[in-house]
Amino acid sequence: TIKILRTVQQVRQWRLQCLLNRETVGFVPTMGALHDGHCSLVSQSLKENDRTVVSIFVNPSQFAPHEDLDAYPRTVDSDLSMLSSQFKEKVVDAVFIPKISEMYPSGITLELSKQKGAFVTVQGCSEQLEGVTRPQFFRGVATVVTKLLNVVTPDKIYFGQKDAQQCVVIKNLVKDLLINTEVRVMPTLREKNGLAMSSRNAYLSPSTREGSAIIYKALSSGQQTYESLSKGSPPRVPSSVILNNIRGVLNEKKDFEIEYIAVSHPETLEDLEYVEPGTGAIVSTAVKVPRADGSGQARLIDNIVLV
Ligand code: PAJ
Repeated sequence: TIKILRTVQQVRQWRLQCLLNRETVGFVPTMGALHDGHCSLVSQSLKENDRTVVSIFVNPSQFAPHEDLDAYPRTVDSDLSMLSSQFKEKVVDAVFIPKISEMYPSGITLELSKQKGAFVTVQGCSEQLEGVTRPQFFRGVATVVTKLLNVVTPDKIYFGQKDAQQCVVIKNLVKDLLINTEVRVMPTLREKNGLAMSSRNAYLSPSTREGSAIIYKALSSGQQTYESLSKGSPPRVPSSVILNNIRGVLNEKKDFEIEYIAVSHPETLEDLEYVEPGTGAIVSTAVKVPRADGSGQARLIDNIVLV
């Protein structure tokens, strides 16, 4: 059965036992409210490692004071039953469910100017895209992932392409801080209608969930535009053509608000003026859609990779 670990010391003990048994360890960090997207990361870890540990921790430092930390879905019981039943071939070995004080021994407040203690920033890839409206977000993510890596010291750590910028930030973090772990990025899992699976989809009414399928439709249309135009010579496609195409599709939904659409270099996340085969690009977007409870908007992100 699945082992529930609640303290840093318990994880370290578990990890040491794996090491003594010469077993490799895969790690999937999550904030819970697990869905099939999370489970695909777990499946991949089960395939590639002798042991797999999943963490469930709603990390306060990646939320700004006005964001949805309190509202963020917390479903630990169903998360645990999902992790203990879902997987045929193998089982998840351990789940790390720490209290906030375990991860933040000096305490943590959401207000940036009042924070004390050590934080990790990954400069150059944290400020654009998601970083524009969420300036503390990747500092919070990089900090908690560093802490988790220091505790778990996995052979491999798993992330979803759904959060493309997070993947870039973590790859740079691991490279620059000389962390001895391989970063694995897995494809985005989608609902039947194309909507990227997300814990925050819980905020949407059934009809908005259906309507939000337009986000992937728009990105896919941009991808098609790129694929047909990149067959020409020269094979480079102006980003503006791709962006206008996507914007045109998204504009059909009058109650959706586009926060950004961007065409970025896949490794540096710099804005690209042109896309060409070989270098490729990440085309990403953030869209605000109505929340089911009428309390304003939910923010959905998605992206597609051009090659
Ligand atoms: P969370 O949103 O719970 O996501 C955990 C992991 O699942 C992330 O790597 C995310 O990219 C991946 N994921 C989410 N939706 C997915 C989908 N539809 N398909 C594939 N993978 C998907 O991301 C976080 O938590 C946090 O920022 C965390 C890294 C845990 C740090 O607090």
